[in-house]
Amino acid sequence: MKLRRLDGVIVSRLVNVRYLTGFTGTAGLLLVTEDAATFYTDFRYEAQASQQVVGPRVSIEKRSLIQCAARDAKRHRLRAVAIESHHVTVDQKADLARLSPETDWLSAQRVVESLRLSKTPDEIAILRQAIEITDGAFVEVLGKLRSGMTERDVAQRLERALQRRDSDGPAFETIVASGVRSALPHGAASGKKLEHGDLVTIDFGGAYKGYCADLTRTVCIGKANSDQKRVYRIVRDAQLRAEEVLRAGLTGRDVDAAAREHIVSKGYGDRFGHGLGHGVGIEVHEAPNLSRTYRSRLRSGSVVTVEPGIYITDWGGVRIEDVAVVMAKGCEVLTRAPKPARLPEL
Ligand code: GLY
Ligand code: MN
Ligand code: MN
Repeated sequence: MKLRRLDGVIVSRLVNVRYLTGFTGTAGLLLVTEDAATFYTDFRYEAQASQQVVGPRVSIEKRSLIQCAARDAKRHRLRAVAIESHHVTVDQKADLARLSPETDWLSAQRVVESLRLSKTPDEIAILRQAIEITDGAFVEVLGKLRSGMTERDVAQRLERALQRRDSDGPAFETIVASGVRSALPHGAASGKKLEHGDLVTIDFGGAYKGYCADLTRTVCIGKANSDQKRVYRIVRDAQLRAEEVLRAGLTGRDVDAAAREHIVSKGYGDRFGHGLGHGVGIEVHEAPNLSRTYRSRLRSGSVVTVEPGIYITDWGGVRIEDVAVVMAKGCEVLTRAPKPARLPEL
């Protein structure tokens, strides 16, 4: 704020409000000025905010929270206030300009997201727990996979196993994609039954204390054929290469390339159509990215997925996904779910 001579910043993206204040409700907004901070919420969260939000003044409002912040910007004659321009809508911007016309409404684009890039030791400890819960649920359900079960049966078992382990719930829609459906990178669980010879890609994660896990494994129901084994091997080797090089100071593009070059060299470059990985934290997808277009350098403390895949229409696909902490001299893979060298045959 000092550098940019700002009198205030409005944080309206709820995940960022949560990050800064600890507030876990569904309506909250923060106005930070040089010497004070105000947290706006409504009647439903009066008691919760007084417990969770320590520091800022809590203001219980009946109207749109961003309009209330604009009212206060006018009242306090704030001349230059930055807003989260990647989140504020055109309508909200018009409201701000109408309610406090003397204020210059500037951009604080992804400022809180950039604070979230490196996780604190406390955040990493919570992520470890989210991942441990998810790994445990996976191992439990893996032992119960049988041909004849539907993908939805599998997803429900995974989600119940998360619940029993005290997860907040699934961090995103559970993917169970079997047979030719495993060629769909985001094949949400359907009514299709698992059949002998199917590749099955399972991608799910439990949230814990607001932080997300993200795990993918691919297995085969019954005996796998040689093509299935070969593609599995290529994806696993690509992933190991990326995990070997992953460290602070490389760009997201460098790490993506470590996996991609291997897949390209085996002739499947055009079948790996997504980025290698993404940051994970309060959101299941957040900065930084491991992808061809991410040219910023990775920082210590970032937590990212490493998830190469090969997807072949009308045949099937393989993806393997771990979560790792970026460190100065390498990385620590947090995921412990088994990842055998050979395609598991159940
Ligand atoms: N399941 C979403 C992802 O792996 O990014
Ligand atoms: Mn995933
Ligand atoms: Mn992922």
